[in-house]
Amino acid sequence: MVVLIVGGGGREHAITWAVAKSPRVEKIYAAPGNAGIAEYAECADISVMDGEKLLAFAKEKEVDFVIVAPDDPLAAGIADVFLDAGIKTFGPRKNAAIIEASKAFSKDLMKKYNIPSAAYETFDDADKAIEYLETASMPIVLKADGLALGKGVLICNTLEEAKAGVKEIMQDKKFGSAGNIMVVEEFMTGREVSVLCYSDGKTIKPMTSAQDHKRAGDNDTGLNTGGMGTFSPSPFYTDEVADFCMKNIYQPTIDAMKAEGREFKGVLFCGLMLTPNGPKVLEYNARFGDPEAQVVIPRMKNDIIDVMEACADGTLDQIDLQFEDNAAVCVMLASDGYPVAYEKGFPMEGLENFKDKDGYFAFHSGTKFKDGKVVTNGGRVIGITALGPDLRTARANAYKATEWVSFENKYMRHDIGKAIDEA
Ligand code: AMP
Ligand code: GLY
Repeated sequence: MVVLIVGGGGREHAITWAVAKSPRVEKIYAAPGNAGIAEYAECADISVMDGEKLLAFAKEKEVDFVIVAPDDPLAAGIADVFLDAGIKTFGPRKNAAIIEASKAFSKDLMKKYNIPSAAYETFDDADKAIEYLETASMPIVLKADGLALGKGVLICNTLEEAKAGVKEIMQDKKFGSAGNIMVVEEFMTGREVSVLCYSDGKTIKPMTSAQDHKRAGDNDTGLNTGGMGTFSPSPFYTDEVADFCMKNIYQPTIDAMKAEGREFKGVLFCGLMLTPNGPKVLEYNARFGDPEAQVVIPRMKNDIIDVMEACADGTLDQIDLQFEDNAAVCVMLASDGYPVAYEKGFPMEGLENFKDKDGYFAFHSGTKFKDGKVVTNGGRVIGITALGPDLRTARANAYKATEWVSFENKYMRHDIGKAIDEA
């Protein structure tokens, strides 16, 4: 089988690593890929948003199976481009990817189908939003409707902060057109957990759980980022919680999408808050999370191609999805200054330390080759993942391995997986 992976971050590196292990795969292409992905795949310098070029490339290389991994191309209908050309593809169509691309859509869906989530109101007018906020209790959560690299969410403790937030999102358009519509949501408290699920549109199979660390600084301070580190499984996601979520969240969501004529095939990522009143949905994503993928995929026992193909074919009920009984922790190495302003282009040393080391991974997020050397090329640079028999060992292993890689302006959080100690 010839496979094309669309994307070029740590998530795609983890996917490529798993695809490369499949005995069914002869050749892997990635667009655009990165310096880490290049170890397993031939990288083509094509934008993830350029459907025409991607399709022409897939036809030229006689690609049998395409994996569209990032949110932007899914929201733009890049999976549709391949599907409509008769190429088997993993990833939801545009009409289903809307579950991530519009928070107003997903909130309305949850309300209509009684899926537990925070109470909310939707606004397309800043004055009306402010009028509403003047009567609301604080803290309160403001969300830009559209995609904003995981950064379009503001938690406001006072009315003044909320008013400033409305200005940022709806008037100054800090997140661009994503802020044309804004959702105002009740503030929820509890542990957060991410559960990524495979679905073929009818059947849904949850993967092992994970937890992300979204803020840039230690102890959850600083700005929201794409994710600074993850661990898997979450000790707070008990069998009882999992059963509740299957009955009240996962299957109802897939059934709701089908009933709406928006069959969802791919990875449905459920961001959950385990509130005192039970698990509730914080957000949906229409893809693997990053860096969630970097701790979940290395723990998966199945051949990833078998599972992804079953999602595309509608035969997921025949797959026995299994994960190792171990744990994984990923610590993201970033460029100092991320997510605001940072320098890149620095040479990276020590990557060879990961060669042939079982249970240790360096998943490239933002890297590229320059004069034959790997250099930093992004805010999030490389995810260091380690396995272990339990979470504490995995965490110690991951932090040990962060020292194997060096580059100028290297930055990381030092408290990834701190919650493990509270379990
Ligand atoms: P989202 O992109 O919707 O997952 O939001 C980003 C982060 O904001 C989440 O991971 C939560 O930490 C926080 N958040 C979002 N919605 C709420 C809410 N209703 N109550 C409390 N925290 C929230
Ligand atoms: N790590 C969060 C996300 O991928 O959206």
